[in-house]
Amino acid sequence: MKLTFRLIFSLFLGITIVVAIFSYIQITDERDRLQGEIERRSIILAETLKESIVTLIETGQFDRLNRILEKFGSRERLKGVAVFDALGNVISSNSSLKSQISKPPVEVINALAEKSPKSKFIKIDKEKLYIYVTPLFSEAFEEEYLIGALAFFQDSSYIDIRVKELWKQNLIRLLALTISIVAVSIIVIKWNIKAPIVRMAEWLKELRKGNINNPPSDIYVKGDILAPLVKEVTSLIKTLSMIKAKAEEEERLRATSNSLWNAEKLKEFIREELGNKKLYILSNREPYMHVRDGEQIKCIVPPGGLVTALDPVMKACDGVWIAHGAGEADREVVDRDDKIKVPPERPSYTLKRIWLTKEEEKRYYYGFSNEGLWPLCHITYVRPIFRKDDWIEYQRVNEKFANALLDEIKEESSPLVLVQDYHLALVPLLIKQKRPDAKIALFWHIPWPNPEVFGICPWAREILIGMLAANLIGFHIQFYCNNFLDTVDRFLESKIDWEHFSIERRGHVTTVRPFPISVSIEDFAFDSHNKDEIRKKLLKELGIKADYIAVGVDRIDYTKGILERFLGIERFLEKYPEFVGKFSFIQFGSPSRTHIKQYREIMEAVEELADKINWKFQGNSYKPIIFLKGHYPHSKIIPFYKIADVCMVTSLHDGMNLVAKEFVASKDDNSGMLILSQFAGASREFKDAIIINPYDIESLADAIYEALTMDEEEKREKMARMRAYIIERNIYRWIRDIIVALVSV
Ligand code: G6P
Repeated sequence: MKLTFRLIFSLFLGITIVVAIFSYIQITDERDRLQGEIERRSIILAETLKESIVTLIETGQFDRLNRILEKFGSRERLKGVAVFDALGNVISSNSSLKSQISKPPVEVINALAEKSPKSKFIKIDKEKLYIYVTPLFSEAFEEEYLIGALAFFQDSSYIDIRVKELWKQNLIRLLALTISIVAVSIIVIKWNIKAPIVRMAEWLKELRKGNINNPPSDIYVKGDILAPLVKEVTSLIKTLSMIKAKAEEEERLRATSNSLWNAEKLKEFIREELGNKKLYILSNREPYMHVRDGEQIKCIVPPGGLVTALDPVMKACDGVWIAHGAGEADREVVDRDDKIKVPPERPSYTLKRIWLTKEEEKRYYYGFSNEGLWPLCHITYVRPIFRKDDWIEYQRVNEKFANALLDEIKEESSPLVLVQDYHLALVPLLIKQKRPDAKIALFWHIPWPNPEVFGICPWAREILIGMLAANLIGFHIQFYCNNFLDTVDRFLESKIDWEHFSIERRGHVTTVRPFPISVSIEDFAFDSHNKDEIRKKLLKELGIKADYIAVGVDRIDYTKGILERFLGIERFLEKYPEFVGKFSFIQFGSPSRTHIKQYREIMEAVEELADKINWKFQGNSYKPIIFLKGHYPHSKIIPFYKIADVCMVTSLHDGMNLVAKEFVASKDDNSGMLILSQFAGASREFKDAIIINPYDIESLADAIYEALTMDEEEKREKMARMRAYIIERNIYRWIRDIIVALVSV
């Protein structure tokens, strides 16, 4: 049965039942009313006539009685009146009744026998009548005695006629109602359901053909009947587009990266791709920082994934890196243009320093960037703070960076500019306004939250507009790209193309892609043939003895889950006491952003917890946690990666986390195991790591046990797979993919 027919049939049935019930009630009421009326009329008539009839009988005036009855019997709806004697014989009646009452009706006999009025609807000669009988009493001899009965015969057929009429009227009403409701329903179905369904089917057909478009506006009205379906199909499309985009990206990369990428190959590629063009990088953090060491000036590499990743890139391809000169001796070593060639031991690219006042640094770097955007993008339940003055300074400093770049690219047409991270979200727009020919990529090194979270920022729209001036926006993983597109969709009037992952706004197209950042594996190469000796030496320097070593390397930041890590270690030693005295964890922790309260607090908390755990478990030459606070260069950390049985990355939220990749990169003997937070971007790539939830301390403890006791062969296989992955997907390939994408957009 077709849906429309079923609907019409159900409507008809429903209406019929309702109308029938109401008609029945109405007709019953009407019948009761008419019957009541007939009864009342009979009683009134009887009462009016009764007394004079008794007198006429007592005085024997039967002629007069006949005349009176004849006169009465001709009234409307009155079939007749009859008077009976006490035995039920007819004394008098009007002529129209005579033939029908040769025999007294039962009601007359009953009224005489019971000496009380009787009434009933009866049928005499197929005629429907209402009979009302009242006994007649004489009071002639002081005592009341029965002399007969007076009977009224009312014609009641009009009640049936009225009832029939009502049924007929209601039937006509039912038909009219059914026809109009069905007609309205058909129109509603056709316009509001059938038409959108047909449009939806066409849309789905287009999707099947690969034309991924947003749903036509007329089928998508929020809260409308098809809205849940459209919502589901839309998210299905997103998923399909992502899978498709990823597959195409893989395919493209497979086709173009036929061999491993390294510094040499990147140089060659850049020469071919860019000719004599330079690469321009802008970031807040500089790759080399000059600080005072007594009388001397020392050059250090600041901690953080951004610098670790981009320095090898710039070493491979000559370019200019514009960054904030934050080192206390930075000004003393630059030339007139605030430039210096780096790295000091083998200068290969130019670092141009930007100077910020204390106020600018306070409001732009500590304030808006690190008290606002950083906690906003990392879901670790630290409340972001947004101050108007910070935002003003953030805009000014972004302008400063943009102007420095504009100065640099004066002579160059279509320069390639790579803007880094959340500190410089407005720079793409500031550059594009003056140099529309510049090709700009913005890489966001931290997570991108969902629209609800990002909407907390009072200047969410301004930030998005600033970013969208870039030709390409990169995130570490697809998930952040999806969140970003959703955010733009929520806050800006724009056209989102979920198939190509691009956003069109006011004629400008921005492509959004995942580019999982990586490391240069050669930078972590380490001669491991004398690993045991190195191990002995390092442990001796630390003054500890341990059979098992685990390592953690972090900036001291509340996003890194260092406290959770320590709690996991404490629980591990409680749960597996056989490791007390044998297992030591070495934590490198470089102080970071210490002008911010939460960073000072986390530093203190980390030190306190390490002390507490050490006090609980330490023995003569045993210490479970060795906390090495300070800035350690990679050359100092790599040997520890080398000798470590386990590396712990327990971030509560992390864009990628390069420590995980550094550890794997340094394990050229495929030894050791990586414990990795499910909330770090790296967990999407390192499926062979032991993936943990850092909030679950118990399972963290078990993960340490699992890492230490895992079968050696299995461990080696897992590590080999992870290494093979980053050997192929290294930092040179990362930048190559970005350049290819940027040049082709
Ligand atoms: C993260 C950010 C980088 C930043 C680094 C170090 O990795 O994404 O942009 O440079 O942390 O933080 P800092 O505030 O010291 O530059």
